[in-house]
Amino acid sequence: MSVIGQGIDRLDGRLKVTGQATYSAEHKLPRLAHGVMVLSTVPKGRITAIDSAMVKRMPGVILVLTHENAPRLPKPKEGGEGKTGGGEQSKPDQKKQPPNPKLSLLQDDRVQYNAQPIAVVVADTFEHARAAARSLQVRYAAEPAQLDFQQAKLRPRRPEPQPDRPPETGRGNAVRGLESAASRIDVTFTTPMENHNPLEPHATIADWQAEGLTLYDSTQNVSGVRKVAAQTFGIDVERIRVVCPFVGGGFGSKGTTWSHVMLAAMASRVAGVPVKLALERTQMYGPVGARPLTEQHLRLGASRDGKLLAVMHDTISSTSFVDDFVEPCTAVTRKAYASDSLQTSQRLATLNVGVPTYMRAPGESSGSFALESAMDELAYALDMDPVRLRLLNYAEKDPEKDIPWSSKSLRECYRVGAERFGWARRTAAPGSMRKGRTLVGWGMATCAYPANRKGAKASALINADGTALVRSGTHDLGTGTYTVMTQVAADALGMPVSTIRFELGDTRFPEAPVSGGSQTVASVGPAVYQAATAARDKLIATALGDSASPLHGLTPADIEAVDGWLRAKADPQRREAMGAVVARNGGKPIGAEASADQGDEKKRYAMQAFGAVFVEVHVDPDLGTVRVPRVVGAYGVGRVLNSKTTHSQLMGGIVWGLGMGLMEKTEMDWRFGRAVNANLADYHVPVNADIGDIDITVVDEHDPHINELGTKGVGEIGITGVAAAVANAIYHATGKRIRDLPITPDKLV
Ligand code: MOS
Repeated sequence: MSVIGQGIDRLDGRLKVTGQATYSAEHKLPRLAHGVMVLSTVPKGRITAIDSAMVKRMPGVILVLTHENAPRLPKPKEGGEGKTGGGEQSKPDQKKQPPNPKLSLLQDDRVQYNAQPIAVVVADTFEHARAAARSLQVRYAAEPAQLDFQQAKLRPRRPEPQPDRPPETGRGNAVRGLESAASRIDVTFTTPMENHNPLEPHATIADWQAEGLTLYDSTQNVSGVRKVAAQTFGIDVERIRVVCPFVGGGFGSKGTTWSHVMLAAMASRVAGVPVKLALERTQMYGPVGARPLTEQHLRLGASRDGKLLAVMHDTISSTSFVDDFVEPCTAVTRKAYASDSLQTSQRLATLNVGVPTYMRAPGESSGSFALESAMDELAYALDMDPVRLRLLNYAEKDPEKDIPWSSKSLRECYRVGAERFGWARRTAAPGSMRKGRTLVGWGMATCAYPANRKGAKASALINADGTALVRSGTHDLGTGTYTVMTQVAADALGMPVSTIRFELGDTRFPEAPVSGGSQTVASVGPAVYQAATAARDKLIATALGDSASPLHGLTPADIEAVDGWLRAKADPQRREAMGAVVARNGGKPIGAEASADQGDEKKRYAMQAFGAVFVEVHVDPDLGTVRVPRVVGAYGVGRVLNSKTTHSQLMGGIVWGLGMGLMEKTEMDWRFGRAVNANLADYHVPVNADIGDIDITVVDEHDPHINELGTKGVGEIGITGVAAAVANAIYHATGKRIRDLPITPDKLV
């Protein structure tokens, strides 16, 4: 029986709970100095004075790095001045989207958002650095800032087209479709700014030596950090090493290389010692990305019998004057249902805030809130069951590209989810399912997330002692990469999990892509599989060609690798330990490297994970408080590599979705563009007491096209649809349709 799929415990779990997992701020380096970033306190203007001299005299201070003394960096090739935020007609400029946004690297005196890095203070201890950083006197000539989304959105900008993310799309004639509809929905939804709160805030140790730069950085993309450092400082990538064996959560914020990483490197270079720069929790709100706020206009039109005739989804999301980021809310809409016509648009409203970025299912979570809420409204308008409405408009193929799905099990997800939830017992009328005074509501939504994949490399070595070393420059964000890649390698090598060491998080290892877009397993898994298979085949060839081997004379087709042994299929007693083959051939490990890519299957098949989520809410009619006693989710995500880590990922996504629906919001003081709940006490996310029963089913799904392993990602689909299912359940409980997240008690009384 293959080890693939088994719910084995995390191989790095013990290291984590015993404090032996080394996170980025924990690497021990001789002469390590401590840096603390100073952030701007105005949203726009110029720095007119910084009293570095006073702070420089404080105890232990080594360096005060400001725009006055920071090394000048080579000009970025794509260049261009900061945006002016002009109207719709303004020329789309040529700047790149994140993951490499323009950084704040102390090159001039300009401030473009509140909490922008404006100085780094380096001292012998953290306490000295922090005391000095807090004493730094800065004077500004403040300028009027654009901090009013309602105003900014009146002059929306068209974003630069991105691959697979055009600013507008359409099929058929949506205007006519809407006009001819018997039933119409025309509603606007909003989602707030949210900030990433991984347990481990961003942290970097930079060690700039004559021979090169080493960065210990908490990142979802070691090779990306390396490239940005090379570009920023104009040095060869070969001279830069980025190390990241553990990440305490990323959720998208660590997919991008932010200013502090380069500032740590700059500080180390100037100070001549390694510098640690760990962000305080409060500093997570501004300079390292956020989910932008969105306003989404949804129009649906359907025939009397529930067939969608038109879908229109127009989104405006906030962005920054520093650089653009588009929250792609319409991406999910474009592929969701088999509507005759469709029209979507994405626009930007520019504010004096830090550059927004990817946050777990960027666009798919915020967009599915709007689309799946609107579908619920349509179901009520048609007096039709919401599951039935979705089945009536089931997309049998990708409605956008008009190509078949590589696999799609959504129908089965609706069936299994509804059955496990007991959906058939639902009475449709709002307020009709009470428990005493408590209002009970049942709501559901469709979940969807693209099955992404990028090119990745891996290596596998079989050692004389019967162990194997498998490597890829990928990441484990707490998601289980160490564990599942070991399982994949064990399966391909024919060796026990306990004999395999999988290493990741180092640019010295074969290159892997950013661990974002739920693509690590689908990208790195095939590379590991191929490298391990090639290493095993080399070992088999070595044994067969070796007259001292009991297998000598057989052909590769006669041999199987099982449990660390090579053996004859016809006679399992005729066998040899895999390590023994290596030992007898001089002891030099036998191995291989592999590079795996998508090929062109993506042109022939649309690849996406789907699911259905069902939520029960209990609403207190007097207080407006919402409890969620149970959630049922059913997902089609291809082949499961590890049932336990898969379950954990889906559950984590659902929990976040509940937070998105009910709690999560960065409360900005829009007079100053600064977050006022910039800490884990005031920034509300669900805790254990908020979470009831979560029932997750992964339906059987065989996908022969997607990759050698048949896997789709599970990191992000779990959050999609949940906020809508919560809102729909709340409507069912109360008759109140809340279109603005989060659905806090004040909106229900
Ligand atoms: Mo995820 S938001 O794609 O890291």
